[in-house]
Amino acid sequence: MIKVITYGTYDLLHHGHRRLLERARALGDYLIVGVTADGFDRARGKLNVQQSLLERIAAVRATGLADEIIVEEYEGQKIDDIRRYGVQIFTVGSDWMGKFDYLREYCEVIYLPRTEGISSSALRTERRMVRLGLVGEGRVLSKYKRECAFVNGLQAAGICTPGGQAELSGEEDILVTDRYEELLEQVDAVYIVSHPSRHFQQVEAALRRGRHVLCESPVVLREAEYRALSRLAEERGLVLMDAIKTAYATAYYRLLLLLKSGCIGEIVSVDVTCTSLKVTPDHRPRGEVWNSICAWGPVAMLPVFQLLSTDYLDCSMTSCLIDEAARFDIYTKIDFLYPHATASVKVGKGIKSEGELIISGTKGYIYVPAPWWKTDYFEIRYENPAENRRCFYPLEGEGIRYELVSFVRSIERGASDSYIDQAVTAGITRVVEAFYSGEKLRRICLKSVPCRQEA
Ligand code: CTP
Repeated sequence: MIKVITYGTYDLLHHGHRRLLERARALGDYLIVGVTADGFDRARGKLNVQQSLLERIAAVRATGLADEIIVEEYEGQKIDDIRRYGVQIFTVGSDWMGKFDYLREYCEVIYLPRTEGISSSALRTERRMVRLGLVGEGRVLSKYKRECAFVNGLQAAGICTPGGQAELSGEEDILVTDRYEELLEQVDAVYIVSHPSRHFQQVEAALRRGRHVLCESPVVLREAEYRALSRLAEERGLVLMDAIKTAYATAYYRLLLLLKSGCIGEIVSVDVTCTSLKVTPDHRPRGEVWNSICAWGPVAMLPVFQLLSTDYLDCSMTSCLIDEAARFDIYTKIDFLYPHATASVKVGKGIKSEGELIISGTKGYIYVPAPWWKTDYFEIRYENPAENRRCFYPLEGEGIRYELVSFVRSIERGASDSYIDQAVTAGITRVVEAFYSGEKLRRICLKSVPCRQEA
């Protein structure tokens, strides 16, 4: 009996797939089809797959062409499979020409001509093209524009930036305007990265116009405002998503899953630091820079709230404010108390520290080295170092790419595919609001810069 094996993603199964499977089957007596696992696709940069592994397997099974279906989960598995199943022929479409010649050592390799004019990517794009408008300032806009190119069904359609074109040179191929209304007219959705003080107004205007919103965190500065905007989005069937790209970075996401499996026992402490030195030597904010609590607070609070929830018993904050009126903190430390755990968050735009994340448990701890918010690596450490494990994951586009995929998926499905729960977003805005109210805020001053009092 001649056994043939072939592999693929088989997303939105089409006649190109069917034709390939028919010809593969005709090469022998028994056809094994390897369907790629979601994690494996992500790891090899195939991000936009629409259907789950189970749906894709069901579609391959429904063709009636496969005698056996297996799941492809890791690099190098093909060699294992060929040996294990006693395969004589490996076959795949001609788009992979030459790529699998290394398998000739184990079996015959045949490249079958690919069916012209159809692909899963084309089908995904055809489904609906979401035109995305980018709103705000800075080079991050160009970054998002570039990342859009990796996401099926998403197209960067325009940029709205207040006279900041200088930073955006090279983006003339799409609409660049300083009129928000003009941008809203031309797009289906917006990504907002303007100063947080403008978010509420901009998010509300977009939602009222029927546009989906992906907004940098903090989405707004008051919890009640966030609740109102969420209601508005829900009433209109629109997506309102918090943009914290770290939530979508593979290493970070896997870390959460691992922790849920209890690999370090019960979590007792989460310690997070995020800093970037971005103020002038005299410690004055440059133009409209984001203060520490807005620039770093959301991403630093993310692991705390995702691991320990937002139901803390107490939250105390200490800030070094160098401009009371502008509420500009060069450093803020937040301590959270939970019934069974504590967390400490340190953020700074005017101080520098080790940007690490440490999660301590009753059996061991996880160490994520700086800069933890865009890491591709972490370690699980135990009392006995021989048990330590190092975990590596790919980090394409700092998580932006996956975030955009989730955004488009949420729009298409009409249901949230966000990795950040609304409770987490609400929790973040609650802390930011407490900072701005200043009520329970403890203050410190630099020795070198006397505190500037409120005007
Ligand atoms: N295939 C084919 N003809 C097509 C599309 C795919 O023969 N028009 C073959 C591929 O060469 C591969 C198998 O079908 O052997 C599974 O391909 P897969 O990557 O799942 O499908 P694509 O449509 O190429 O997916 P994408 O657009 O996401 O790359």
